[in-house]
Amino acid sequence: MSLVTLDRQQAADHIHKFPFDLKHDLAGHPLFSLERLVALAKSMPRDRIEYNSGKVAIGQAPDQTPQIDLPADDVIRQIEHCNAWMVIKNVETDTEYRALLQAFVRDLAGATGAEEDQFGDLQGFVFVSSAGSTTPFHIDAEENILVQISGDKFVHVFDNEDRALVSEEAMEISPSKHRNQTYEPAFESHARVFELAEGDAVHIPYMHPHWVRTGGRYCISMAMTWKTPEVERLNKIRLMNGTLRRFGLPQSPPGRSGTADAIKVFGHDAMRAVIDPLRKSEWCRKALRGLIYGRNANYYYEAGKGS
Ligand SMILES: [Fe+2]
Repeated sequence: MSLVTLDRQQAADHIHKFPFDLKHDLAGHPLFSLERLVALAKSMPRDRIEYNSGKVAIGQAPDQTPQIDLPADDVIRQIEHCNAWMVIKNVETDTEYRALLQAFVRDLAGATGAEEDQFGDLQGFVFVSSAGSTTPFHIDAEENILVQISGDKFVHVFDNEDRALVSEEAMEISPSKHRNQTYEPAFESHARVFELAEGDAVHIPYMHPHWVRTGGRYCISMAMTWKTPEVERLNKIRLMNGTLRRFGLPQSPPGRSGTADAIKVFGHDAMRAVIDPLRKSEWCRKALRGLIYGRNANYYYEAGKGS
């Protein structure tokens, strides 16, 4: 039996381009019990867990985000009452979550008729959030399907084709930049709101701005994320643009010059060949982020220092 149920024609027309809703069969799966999530959090490196108070503004300034003074495992145990928001990143490094992610995406590709080679670099992010929490307005440099496991979630997804909400410069990629973006209440006229309960899911395409609020119960969700070959190419260009801007060399956005884009992709791949072997340790990741992108690149170490 497939893990996803969807309108095949709508999904085939929308995937990788526009948001759409679908159903899944993962509510009640044992990998999402609080007990299993505590074990997951304890097994992950500290820089793969980000958490703070859930009582934040839609346009929250990242450096003023209120924190939670609890270790990560206690935040999960107390999520019903502690007014927290948490994401456990890269859960595909755990064998069981990776298998689930792979099965989900395989079924998704089958159900939509999309080619499996469009679903590269699979990564999973598990969200645990108290009732009445807000995930501020932000963009993500990958595509995803947000799967609602328990609780109610309201996902506001925005059309930004004309870059009126988030500019090309803001879409440049740099570890020193927080994902949160400047928000104005007037943006809401560009939003489509997806109401998710157990068994619901929504597709959020690459760099579609969104913000999220939870309803009256605590929520568990998982973002099943992937990158298409085109997303990989755009990310390389936007990372090079963000890095060059940091060194005072602002660049044109992707698509203006095929030659410049090709040079940036080549430069990116050469740089990664040197850096990637060093990124295997948490200490090296932290040092590299600080060295190239500045102290702000390690902002999430500020939260939950005692954990
Ligand atoms: Fe997101």
